[in-house]
Amino acid sequence: MILRQASEASSCSLTLVAPAKINFHLEILGLRKDQFHELAMLMQSIDLCDRLHFQKRVDGQIRLGCDIDGLSVGDENLIVRAAYLLRKKSGVENLGADIQLEKKIPIGAGLAGGSSDAAAALKGLNALWNLGLHKETLEELAAELGSDVPFCLSGGSQLCFGRGERLEPVFLGSSSIAVLLVKNPLVSVSTPWAYGRFKDLNRDSYLHAEDDFEDRRQRLREQPWLNPINLNHPLPLRNDLQKVVSAEVPSIRKALEILSNLPGVRGVAMSGSGPSCFALFADLESAIAAKEKNRFKFSSAGLECWCCSLLTEEARVKR
Ligand code: C5P
Repeated sequence: MILRQASEASSCSLTLVAPAKINFHLEILGLRKDQFHELAMLMQSIDLCDRLHFQKRVDGQIRLGCDIDGLSVGDENLIVRAAYLLRKKSGVENLGADIQLEKKIPIGAGLAGGSSDAAAALKGLNALWNLGLHKETLEELAAELGSDVPFCLSGGSQLCFGRGERLEPVFLGSSSIAVLLVKNPLVSVSTPWAYGRFKDLNRDSYLHAEDDFEDRRQRLREQPWLNPINLNHPLPLRNDLQKVVSAEVPSIRKALEILSNLPGVRGVAMSGSGPSCFALFADLESAIAAKEKNRFKFSSAGLECWCCSLLTEEARVKR
């Protein structure tokens, strides 16, 4: 979402937000020829957001700064990789930018913070540099950067198939559902490790045929609690990585236990490859009340908490 663009120098600077996501559904179907997993997911943006400020440079340099320590701002950072990839695609070598990242989404948390920042960089620099590249082109570049980056380009509520890059937006209605998100700040989980561990333990039950993959996709599309989301019953949240990752990470087991026992909770799961976990509530007031009442329980377990709403609309550009 582009929040602000300096109007007089119409394209000299702009600011975007980059929302985190959670997984309502993460189902691992099988292994692809490229060694990525074939997935069926329902991903959902939430209003826990990083912010990226972009300013044009005339000397062709691409520079990243960040307001927290411990995050590399060098060439390996996904934002910088996105900038170089976009510039290469444009064919204009002297495009430059200063990018300042305000980091709010926890790192290595299963919330796609890095992917969302990369998606914001593609969108922001496409606007800053007046490239006019279409969504389809940005999605192709996004897929080169990471499996979750295409989803993050437009966010909202989407089914994600393939390795995550085949997107089908879904209608969840104007839902008041709120999220209580928790994470131990001292713990992070490597995504390759999580998928590798899952593969070691489950590869015998992988599906192989495209028809079988498609059956599972269709089953997800037809879930009765979708279109719009139906909170009358506890949501059948699913994350296939949860069992294998939580078996190795005690703070995830503790988080899931605390969240599952909160009154009024409508569903509990780990997000992505963890270690973030979340509980769904009927509305934000209930989520905030649960957070406040259990403040001591969360802090004793070393868990940080956030109350968030769902972002159901595609991010829009504001000039
Ligand atoms: O695409 P991304 O960089 O997010 O993937 C990180 C790692 O997670 C991959 O290298 C792979 O080990 C694993 N992964 C996977 N199947 C997917 C997505 C990710 O096995 N669909």
